[in-house]
Amino acid sequence: MFTVDVHVFGEVYPASQSFTELAHSSFLTWPRIIKLVGVCAFVYVFMLAIYRLYLCPLASFPGPVLAKLTHWYEFYYNVVRGGKYYEKIRELHAKYGPVVRVTPEEIHIMEPSAYKEVFVFGVVRKTNAYPRFSNDMTAISTPHDVHRRLRVPIDKLFARASILRIESRVADRVARLCDRLSCYQGTGQVVNLTNALSSLTTDVISSVIFEEPSDYLGDPDFNGEWYETLKWGTRSVFIFKHLPWIVSVLGRPLLRSLVTRITRWTVWDEKARREVLLIRKRPSDAEQTREKTTILDHLAHSDLVESEFGNGGFPRLAQLIQQAGAHNVSHALGTIITYLLLEPEKIDPLRRELEDIWSKHDDRLSVPSWLELEKAPYLSAVVAEGLRMAIGGMNRTPRVFPNDDVKICGWVIPRGTPVSMTTHWMHMDPTVFPNPECFEPNRWLTASPDELKVMQTYYVPFAKGSRACVGQK
Ligand code: HEM
Repeated sequence: MFTVDVHVFGEVYPASQSFTELAHSSFLTWPRIIKLVGVCAFVYVFMLAIYRLYLCPLASFPGPVLAKLTHWYEFYYNVVRGGKYYEKIRELHAKYGPVVRVTPEEIHIMEPSAYKEVFVFGVVRKTNAYPRFSNDMTAISTPHDVHRRLRVPIDKLFARASILRIESRVADRVARLCDRLSCYQGTGQVVNLTNALSSLTTDVISSVIFEEPSDYLGDPDFNGEWYETLKWGTRSVFIFKHLPWIVSVLGRPLLRSLVTRITRWTVWDEKARREVLLIRKRPSDAEQTREKTTILDHLAHSDLVESEFGNGGFPRLAQLIQQAGAHNVSHALGTIITYLLLEPEKIDPLRRELEDIWSKHDDRLSVPSWLELEKAPYLSAVVAEGLRMAIGGMNRTPRVFPNDDVKICGWVIPRGTPVSMTTHWMHMDPTVFPNPECFEPNRWLTASPDELKVMQTYYVPFAKGSRACVGQK
């Protein structure tokens, strides 16, 4: 009779020894366990690399090897180099052409005429969101069908007619800001306009959502502390995007309440939770005029299925609308005011136009309505140019087509692939917007009809298609 011995990590064990005996012998020592885990991890990473480079459906798409292999490539440019991946992406397109694989699973397009193929309406094809870190923070819902169901009633709340009915809420808060600013006149005190504008837009949006809206405009410091928190949060988005599990860990009840205490990050969410509970205890306000009702009242008394909004339900939606509606608007306003102050010759036509409109209000006490203001051509051009320069979203928000392979720029992009484009490069295309870095409202007034048509096609501050901005009206 002969025996066969087993060689493990250079040591010899008789084959007759059972696994249990091995486990109880000196075989499973810590150094060996670590080596074993190391070997398994190496094999896993090696196989994943082979898959991502040669076997996956995107293997043939052009792009740098590191971007195809790992998300750490994007992490380096966005976190270590401070949000610079969008610039690197442009370099990659110069090297690889209009279609580039920018992460292991995402294709980026740098060909503006392809925008209409990517950001489509539901009648063209279904579009899912791409929840790389959390769909809760950026979209009403991820899957197309649920999103469509939920968007229709929300779109109604933000339709032009609905917004016109609550115009007085906006006007009141603008008047409040003007009062506050006039107090600074002649004092030599410096006002932080970013915080002042953010307080304005925060109060306006919260008056649309909540029965007890915020009063940041009433804060002596325009709530500067809150905006510091917000900046901190915004910077961490790239980290959350790279390590999405952090978001779910922070969402656990204990940590969530800790984060809430320290950062006030979920302040709107909590406020909405409290209001929904109160609203549900009383009959609907729906019979009252729209001027008196709020979005939460509509939601809480609607027949919408709350769980379709995800775990956070209506409060999560309230938080999304509050954040999306306040900061994009204040950023756009800040951008416009900054450029106008830097180039006073561009303020003069605006001043003349507005003085003309105001002069029609003889008593000087009433203010022009939005219906009057929206007809002012130079004001509209200033707003359009401000939105072009403010960009909208700097983050890529890829679209995913669950049911269709889509041909773009000669490449067939397999269904299920996140496809993105960068608004910044659309708005900075010098062939469409000459001197794109210059704030030039007149470009919207002097362009020929054909030029204007092209400009409108490339102008996408609110994105386009079924997932475009709810609040763009
Ligand atoms: C200057 C102002 C604004 C800009 C530039 C802007 C920009 C955008 C963009 C680009 C998107 C699409 C994101 C994506 O591609 O996935 C978006 C979505 C959204 N925006 Fe705005 N937005 C503005 C104002 C507002 C306002 C005032 C509100 C609400 C009061 C709002 C609420 C939303 C919501 C809820 C979404 C998600 C839509 C969905 O998931 O279907 N935004 N916004």
